[in-house]
Amino acid sequence: MNFISLQNVFFSYTDVEEQQNKKYALNGVSLDVKKGEFLAIIGHNGCGKSTIAKHLNAMLLPDSGKVYVDGDDTSDEDKTFDIREKVGLVLQNPDNQLVASIVEEDVAFGPENLGVPPKEIRTRVDNALKAVGMYEYRKHAPHKLSGGQKQRVAIAGILAILPECIVLDEPTAMLDPNGRDEVLSTLLELNHKKNMTVVLITHYMDEAVLADRVVVMDGGNILTQGTPDEVFSQVELLKKHRLDVPQSAELAYRLKGCGVKIDKIPLNNAECIKMLEEVLR
Ligand SMILES: Nc1ncnc2c1ncn2[C@@H]1O[C@H](COP(=O)(O)OP(=O)(O)O)[C@@H](O)[C@H]1O
Ligand SMILES: [Mg+2]
Repeated sequence: MNFISLQNVFFSYTDVEEQQNKKYALNGVSLDVKKGEFLAIIGHNGCGKSTIAKHLNAMLLPDSGKVYVDGDDTSDEDKTFDIREKVGLVLQNPDNQLVASIVEEDVAFGPENLGVPPKEIRTRVDNALKAVGMYEYRKHAPHKLSGGQKQRVAIAGILAILPECIVLDEPTAMLDPNGRDEVLSTLLELNHKKNMTVVLITHYMDEAVLADRVVVMDGGNILTQGTPDEVFSQVELLKKHRLDVPQSAELAYRLKGCGVKIDKIPLNNAECIKMLEEVLR
């Protein structure tokens, strides 16, 4: 079932007065997000990923085309509130999202704004902090946490709104490898155990391979999409558009170039080792 549907969406940041050199950030994008799926969106800087993210919760509205969230048109102002409750957006830099001086107050901010009763806020905050593994830090000061911990608190702040879908715009870009692992395992767990729909925008290919489906953006439109296997086996196409592939796929591609027979492009270390064992046999 489609939870979010973008239908031929065009969007430009250019003012209407500057019609002649109008540049579109989104060039007729059609994309569905299914309920419960883990979707990764990858692509170069400036290809329109953040613009898509902001269309998913009505922060931006299409110039033409339609975006539906759970059947509601995002350009229907009466639905904006419902839509933002259903689709939570986490941005790149956690420092810009953490507003309070104590972790639990920060997480309570979203539900407070929604007018949730205090008792229920307490439960929601505790549950959200537990879900991201930050419950023990509830009395701490956010600015003293590590990058990965801050980003997990920011995710908890969104979870406390009880959204059905969480959209994350390069949430690991500012993090070290440990912080990235923390955030990624949190997202995978939310997706697997709580059936939360996750849309992860990332420029790390090793994160994208963990998704159910990968969408590759280029120049304001979708270049290709499919399962990680389907997408990353198109090494040639991705390289033509100067996009990275996972290191194991790169190795397989180069071996193929040397005439080695490779049946399946490996996407992670384990698959890569298997491939090398078969090659050497
Ligand atoms: N606030 C803005 N004002 C004007 N142009 C913008 C703004 N935000 C993004 N753009 C332009 O829109 C295009 C898509 O940007 P964006 O969605 O941020 O890409 P990405 O997230 O993939 O890096 C780029 O050409 C970018 O320069
Ligand atoms: Mg961006």
